[in-house]
Amino acid sequence: MAAPAAGRRRRGVLGVLQGRRIGLGVSGGIAAYKAVELCSRLRRLGADVQVAMTRNACRLVTPLTFRAISGNPVITGMFREPRRWSVEHVEFARWAELIAVVPATANLIGKVASGIADDFLTTAIMAAKCRVLFAPSMNEAMYENPIVRANISRLKVHGYEFIEPEEGRLACGEFGRGRLPDTGEIVQRIVSILTVGGGRRDLEGVRVVVTAGPTREPIDPVRFLSNPSSGKMGFVVAEEAAERGAHVVLVSGPVSLPPPPGVRLVGVTTAREMYDAVMSELDSCDVLVKTAAVSDYRPESVSGRKIKKSDAPLTLRLVPNPDILREAGKRKGSRILVGFAAETENLVENASAKLREKNLDLIVVNDVSREGAGFGGDTNAAKIVDAAGAVIEVPLTTKRMLARLLLDKVAELLSAKGRSAGRPAGR
Ligand code: PMT
Repeated sequence: MAAPAAGRRRRGVLGVLQGRRIGLGVSGGIAAYKAVELCSRLRRLGADVQVAMTRNACRLVTPLTFRAISGNPVITGMFREPRRWSVEHVEFARWAELIAVVPATANLIGKVASGIADDFLTTAIMAAKCRVLFAPSMNEAMYENPIVRANISRLKVHGYEFIEPEEGRLACGEFGRGRLPDTGEIVQRIVSILTVGGGRRDLEGVRVVVTAGPTREPIDPVRFLSNPSSGKMGFVVAEEAAERGAHVVLVSGPVSLPPPPGVRLVGVTTAREMYDAVMSELDSCDVLVKTAAVSDYRPESVSGRKIKKSDAPLTLRLVPNPDILREAGKRKGSRILVGFAAETENLVENASAKLREKNLDLIVVNDVSREGAGFGGDTNAAKIVDAAGAVIEVPLTTKRMLARLLLDKVAELLSAKGRSAGRPAGR
């Protein structure tokens, strides 16, 4: 175990990464030597760095070098001794707040993209729930190879992050794109990931209203009509938007989730309460994301007393609730409106019809009949459809990642509308 980084710190100076836990994966590219300098800079900023090297990386730089620089024993394989943790690949993945793979070879990227976990580093990446940043470095022809490009795109869809290689003289003597960026640039990226909101502040000052959870439509004082929405999807959209600099109001039906930090929570119960809350926020928002599963109908009358059980059938007459999103669509102005659609068939077709009918910019359609998607869990699989009919397919991933990809698209639309962050939507 490393001595605490602070122990070697200059008097009274704490680095910006003080105590942050970084897994540094080193794969077998010639730029592996630059990872030594990176490790040293991260340590000087106060980070606890645990290095994991592939077999080929060990042929280019000795583990002893990384051991001396990081102050930790270096992980060089699944079964090496002594170990820092007993089930090391899982513990390493849990421990790290960020795994940075520097350099990332075409082979390593290809393996992760194909779900191959045949050594310590690939297995740990597979087990990781933290952010993973790849810094590819290779010959330009390799970097431009369509297979490598496709692997990188595939990993990006799953939320893995990349720092682009630079143009310059390559180890093979050629000139081109493929050189590992300056370690200062990689450090900056790591600092921004681990400090402010994952580094992206592309929604700075944008006013976002998110709705989440179910609504409850009372039948009598102890019974109601509702649905299984847990609020998780809406809460992560709100959290991600706040981390990216937005001012977020979260209008939520009854759920048992703590409010995300920095978000103003407005609690509601019925669809009509949600309608009132959204309408009173609409004038002062730039983006509305309607993740809530709103009850389409409510009982026409609510009994003031508990309805007594009897053997006779009970008929409830239901009346439609206001469609909040459709109303927002009528008052759209230059706001960005995003709907969610819970569908079980003809996903894109049905969602596109809702997008047109409600005057939306984007709709996220999830197949709620699919295992791991839709209500309740931490994962979702969806298609993000825009007004021009373009579809982004998001395979099964975390709700957080879906939120991130959705907000990437929202940020893109805001900048296409020429609206700089923080400037109110023109009405
Ligand atoms: O909360 P979780 O457990 O994480 O689950 C997430 C989710 C499955 C609820 C979410 O991903 C989702 O799909 N939300 C939308 C569900 C839904 O109500 O779909 P819809 O097709 O009925 O409605 C389409 C859109 O119109 C939605 O944006 C909805 O908020 C909106 N609407 C619907 C009815 C109504 N009266 N007013 C509305 O604004």
